[in-house]
Amino acid sequence: MREKTHIPSRVPPNSLGIKSLLGTEFLEKKQIEQILKYSFLFKDLLDSGKPVPQTLSGKTVILLFFEPSTRTRSSFELAAKRLGGNTLALSKEGSSTEKGETLIDTAKTVQAMNPDLLVLRHPSAGSPFHLDQTLDLPVINAGDGFHEHPTQALLDLMTIQQFKGKIEGLKVLIVGDIAHSRVARSNIYALQKMGGEVSVCGPPTLLPPKVEQMGVEVHYGLNKAVRDKDVIMTLRIQFERLNPGQSPSRGEYSKFYGISESVLKAAKSDVLIMHPGPVNRGVEISPDVADGSRSVILNQVGNGVIVRMAVLHLLTGGELPKGLV
Ligand code: NCD
Repeated sequence: MREKTHIPSRVPPNSLGIKSLLGTEFLEKKQIEQILKYSFLFKDLLDSGKPVPQTLSGKTVILLFFEPSTRTRSSFELAAKRLGGNTLALSKEGSSTEKGETLIDTAKTVQAMNPDLLVLRHPSAGSPFHLDQTLDLPVINAGDGFHEHPTQALLDLMTIQQFKGKIEGLKVLIVGDIAHSRVARSNIYALQKMGGEVSVCGPPTLLPPKVEQMGVEVHYGLNKAVRDKDVIMTLRIQFERLNPGQSPSRGEYSKFYGISESVLKAAKSDVLIMHPGPVNRGVEISPDVADGSRSVILNQVGNGVIVRMAVLHLLTGGELPKGLV
């Protein structure tokens, strides 16, 4: 457990009671519930075509993305803009990082321009924690190495809640490269806090040592693992984080751990199929399953914008008009 958050006076107070969103490990159940409540509230507004309160109007969100990203970066940008905020995106390429500036110096430089919040994606596990301690700004972790990716887990919870009506008591199987996946780690913490039962399945070399200590059931074979599950989350092998020789061949991996229609014959007929993207079709998931009726992969993407609206709104101390909440 981390120490209680000190919120600097420059940061407006917010109803979540935290300065930054660094990981689901540090969230309490009621904070997750609050983020989900605001997410569904924004979803209802958007679905009904009603105007979205511009609670980020006059505020600036900095997006520091030092690793590739399609969904996360664009959804943070869209989320801030839908709430009336401005965004400024910086990546490693073309910034002074290429001239040797450290992450902390880049972040302090950006802070001097008076933004209201900073979103960071970085290959080093723990980097958002350093920024949180150094800056008088809320920091959102948009993925730090293999460590955590909290907004991905929150959008996954929202999608499960949307399609299953609950999270408590559901059996969720995460398949694949658990050892190098920040998505798996953030989901395990968040799902367990919300009363979900999490199992993992993958080749032994791609499971973290002593993974059972995270309170998950461990499977090495897919057929038995899928049997009684309500949700199956499949993951890309994080080749960029593997040592040479540690990675199975794509063909071999797909044969034993790929989710295909034939594997799903052993699963419940209403099992939900999820994937955080990017999908490697034909490796961890077959195209017919990815595009099939049980797949909610594109709903996850849509919910990603909405969850990030909720998180940006809450962390910047936004208030919705009376009657909406
Ligand atoms: C994930 C990530 O970057 O951690 N993608 C995402 O944010 N939607 C998963 C991955 O890259 O495999």
